[in-house]
Amino acid sequence: MGFKRGDAVLIRRPSDIAPSEITPREVYLNRRQWMAGAAGLALAGALPFRLEAAPLTAAKSAFSTDEKPTSREDVTSYNNFYEFGTGKDDPAARAKSLKTSPWTVKVDGLVGKPAEFGIEDLIKSSALEERIYRMRCVEGWSMVIPWVGFPMADLVKRVEPLGSAKYVAFETAYRPEEMPGVQSVFPVLDWPYVEGLRLDEAMHPLTILAVGLYGETLPNQNGAPIRLVVPWKYGFKGIKSITRISFVEKQPETSWNKQAPDEYGFYANVNPNVDHPRWSQATERRIGEGGLFVKRRPTLPFNGYADQVASLYAGMDLRKFY
Ligand code: MTE
Repeated sequence: MGFKRGDAVLIRRPSDIAPSEITPREVYLNRRQWMAGAAGLALAGALPFRLEAAPLTAAKSAFSTDEKPTSREDVTSYNNFYEFGTGKDDPAARAKSLKTSPWTVKVDGLVGKPAEFGIEDLIKSSALEERIYRMRCVEGWSMVIPWVGFPMADLVKRVEPLGSAKYVAFETAYRPEEMPGVQSVFPVLDWPYVEGLRLDEAMHPLTILAVGLYGETLPNQNGAPIRLVVPWKYGFKGIKSITRISFVEKQPETSWNKQAPDEYGFYANVNPNVDHPRWSQATERRIGEGGLFVKRRPTLPFNGYADQVASLYAGMDLRKFY
C-alpha cells in the first residue's frame, strides 16, 4: 500500500510495499503520470463505453468549507479503491477498465416505490450542488474535495421508505472481469464492498451522493459514476461505484467491519479522542502539504462538522459505538 511515513494503513502486508515508499515522490509521480498516459493511449478506442469526463452544472452550497481544495492531481491520483489494488496509485492506473455506462442503481427493500435509476436520468433529474468538504481517511490523511452531487435525502424521499426502514445498505458493483483487485487469489475484502448508514444519517443534509468533482463527472478512481460522501465519517464509509441501495430494518454489514471488527466500527465518526487500536487519530496529514517540517494538523471531532451532526449521537457512548 502506498503511504508516507507517519500515516497509518488499513492493513499491511509485505506484498503491499509500493514504489512510493522507496522512491522519492517527484520520481514516482513522473513515472505514474507516464504510466497513466501509456495506459490511456492503449485503452482509448478500446473502451467506447467509458463515460468521458463531462462538465456538470451545479449550484454553490452554503455547506461548503472555505478551506483551500486539494489539487485535482492529488484528489485523482492518491486513492483507496481496493477493487483495483491496494496501492494508492493503483486506482488511477487501473480503474479505467470499469465500464460506467450504461449504469443503473437499484433502490429496493423497505420502500413504497422501489426503483431502478439509469445514471444519466438520475443526474438529470437531481438538483446538483458543489459541496467543498473536508475528507478524513481512517489512515491519518485528509483532503478538501470539491464534490458535485445531490442530497441523499432527495433520493430517499423519491422511494418513500416504510416506517420499518431503519438503515440504508449500499453495495458497490461486483465485476471481477473489470476489477483486477477482485480477481486476486488472496482477497483483501469480502466482495462486493458494502456499507451502511442509519436512516437519519442518510437523511442528514450533509450526506450526499456524489456524481462529480472539480466540476466534471467523477473519474473512475474516485468512484464513478456515483458514490457516497459523508464528511463527518472516516473515508471508508464513502462507498464507491454504487449499484444498489437497500432500505432495511437491521444494521447492515459493512466491509471493513467484517474484515476487522475491533478496528473499524459501523459508525466510524471521525473522533480524535478514540484511537485506532494500532495508531492515534489525534492528528492528520493534509495531502499536498509537502515538506519535512510541515506539521500534522489536529483532527477535529466529527471532522469539524460537530455543530451539525453531534446531536445525531446524543446519549451514545462514542467509545463503544466507534
Ligand atoms: N469503495 C469501494 N468500493 N472500495 C474501496 O476500497 N475505499 C474507501 C472509500 N470507498 C473504498 C471505497 C476508502 S478507505 C476511502 S479513504 C475512500 O473511498 C477514498 O475515496 P477517494 O479515493 O475518492 O479519496
